[in-house]
Amino acid sequence: MDARRRAVLTAGAAGGAALMTGCGSSDGGGDTESSPASTPATASPTVGGGTELARTSDIPVGGGKIFKERKIVVTQPKDGEFKAFSAVCTHAGCLVTTVADGTIDCPCHGSRYSITDAAVEAGPATRPLPAEKITVSGGSIRTA
Ligand code: FES
Repeated sequence: MDARRRAVLTAGAAGGAALMTGCGSSDGGGDTESSPASTPATASPTVGGGTELARTSDIPVGGGKIFKERKIVVTQPKDGEFKAFSAVCTHAGCLVTTVADGTIDCPCHGSRYSITDAAVEAGPATRPLPAEKITVSGGSIRTA
């Protein structure tokens, strides 16, 4: 009788240990959080809400620049006039790769968009690139 009672107690303790192990493993998996050096969130000041995309001097007049990682293309159709559009082609979703001769060009099937308003200049795309909001101030182009 005594041995049987001990067996029940042991099982109960094991169950408790299992529960604790479950608990411990859920908040003990901190390996992925242990590298604080990998967050460059403080790289740019947060004035104006957006992050800096480029300096105005980075964008050629009559041309533009593609920011692949942000999926944004910024153009300067006329001196001092900056525009920003999505860099995702409206045809089938490739990223545009070139800004040349007044157009933003997609390498996948040859669509070309105007640097002025992203209107389709050559298909197969049928819709313009969506506009992106930017603010330009003090030589800095920021996402809005
Ligand atoms: Fe750009 Fe087809 S995805 S032209």
